Amino acid sequence: GDMRFDDDELAVPQSKGEAKQPFVIGVGGGTASGKSTVCNMIIQQLHDHRVVLVNQDSFYRGLTAEELENVGEYNFDHPDAFDTEQLLDCLEKLKSCLPIQIPVYDFKRHQRSLDTVRKVNAADVIILEGILVFHDARVRGLMNMKIFVDTDADVRLARRIRRDTLERGRDVNGVIEQYAKFVKPAFDDFVLPTKKYADVILPRGGDNHVAIDLIVQHIRTKLGQHDLRKIYPNVYVIQSTFQI
Ligand code: ADP
Ligand code: C5P
Ligand code: MG
Repeated sequence: GDMRFDDDELAVPQSKGEAKQPFVIGVGGGTASGKSTVCNMIIQQLHDHRVVLVNQDSFYRGLTAEELENVGEYNFDHPDAFDTEQLLDCLEKLKSCLPIQIPVYDFKRHQRSLDTVRKVNAADVIILEGILVFHDARVRGLMNMKIFVDTDADVRLARRIRRDTLERGRDVNGVIEQYAKFVKPAFDDFVLPTKKYADVILPRGGDNHVAIDLIVQHIRTKLGQHDLRKIYPNVYVIQSTFQI
């Protein structure tokens, strides 16, 4: 028979934020496991979609003058080091297709930038990346897909020493001390226990091209089905990887 579409229904995906909710992906895992690398690979492969990357690091609380004086005693790997309420608020807004402002964090000063924020608009896909993105149940609840990047601890420590000395203004001894005192114990206590929430455990991070291709395929399938069912609720979907 002939298909008829209600005008209102057709207009919904473009005009109302809640009609087309973005697909939210969480990418967790230990320090220097390759989270940022994997996210960038996913984003490259999804070049024909609007993708926004949000880093949990952006929500680190700034240190007080007192905390700064004894920065070697500060635990940046404990869940309390992040402003999770603010992260949740930002993520909820993005999920409702509202624009947000994200703080810009400076790892050298352990502070947020006073004069710069990152303005982020609505997108088809939102990726939240960070060591503890699966720790808070409310944040987890907003995610459509959870990926845990699983890289051996020795590889991660080696990469962290190189990265933090080259990019984050640290010296080798400081990195190793911080790792033994805070990073490793917090990984065991807070990061590793969230692995059970993951839908996908990604061994070897960015080296695992097969798994990353599979993840991208899944996202494409979800985006296609999602949009089609909202726009043409009465049409039977045969080609599930249809792209808008
Ligand atoms: P995370 O975001 O989990 O902390 P990154 O993706 O930033 O990890 O990786 C940490 C460091 O290791 C970076 O300097 C990055 O360039 C490097 N790195 C990441 N993945 C690989 C890889 N597969 N091979 C070699 N170096 C890598
Ligand atoms: O990119 P990555 O996931 O490694 O970032 C998280 C790490 O950053 C944490 O393990 C924490 O120890 C470190 N960090 C730091 N100094 C800060 C903030 C975070 O060393 N000021
Ligand atoms: Mg990172």
